[in-house]
Amino acid sequence: MRRLVVPAAGSWQSGQETGVAAGVKEEAMEVKPTTDHTGAEVRGIDLARPVSDEAKAVLNRAFVAHGVLVIREQSLSPHQVLGAVELFGRVFMQHNTRFAIPECPQIHYISNNDRFPDGRRYIPGEGWHTDHSNDARPPKATVLHAVSLPDRGGDTQFANMAAAHAALSPSLQDRIAGLVAIHVYQSSHSARKLMALSDANKERVPNAVLHPLVRTHPENGRKSLYLNPIRIEGILGMDHKEALPLLDELLEHATAERFQYRHRWQPGDLVIWDNRCLLHKANGDYDMEQTRYLYRVMLEGDVPR
Ligand SMILES: [Fe+2]
Repeated sequence: MRRLVVPAAGSWQSGQETGVAAGVKEEAMEVKPTTDHTGAEVRGIDLARPVSDEAKAVLNRAFVAHGVLVIREQSLSPHQVLGAVELFGRVFMQHNTRFAIPECPQIHYISNNDRFPDGRRYIPGEGWHTDHSNDARPPKATVLHAVSLPDRGGDTQFANMAAAHAALSPSLQDRIAGLVAIHVYQSSHSARKLMALSDANKERVPNAVLHPLVRTHPENGRKSLYLNPIRIEGILGMDHKEALPLLDELLEHATAERFQYRHRWQPGDLVIWDNRCLLHKANGDYDMEQTRYLYRVMLEGDVPR
């Protein structure tokens, strides 16, 4: 099992251990695209150290341009993860607090060691989806930081919904323009079951919200399909007999391999992705005797339009 050594919370002192100024590290920062449509690898920055305004601007531009940033060779405690993600926005409170880390509840964990009440293993994130789309203001980004990884497998796949929308026929683009989808915590049509919410969590999670099926990115203006087979219950004003095949057709088109970036995790990876223009899914294809454990944070987003 590949394991990353994570420093204890609070053990780090700002830039004092080496005397190396943050700017020196940042001069070496490299952003290298991983495919021609989605993803970029970032090297040469240590997010446990102060980051200059210039580097912050470069990172945010790269995030909007590439959709997924894979920031290599980080070793961050939960509190340091919070500091790092605040370079990109404000922390969004996730819905199911059972996964919160006690010492830092804004951070949740992803683990293959949780089980449903009936004893079956719970693999978070299986099946294509976008995070928390049942919120009126869904998170603009999700961040994962690898703490413990299996020797092989457990990749995260991303599919680019802007590229997928652009590749639709003009007639299908016209047909879906203006359609509104109904998002709920758990769609009755979903093959994947989520961990149930506690009564206290149910009170703060909306029953249903409406979002456009095609949304426009607030920062780059690109149109994207906004699909989510785990959360979409139907299309407003459309019979299920018409809506469900349409949603299936769009999902099949949008998750074709040509729109994908497949992330193979390395120890130390911190990955941030843009939920406004991507679907993602986890793969439970690894040795379940090995622990896969990551920290997860989300960032506040806008009302999709
Ligand atoms: Fe997810």
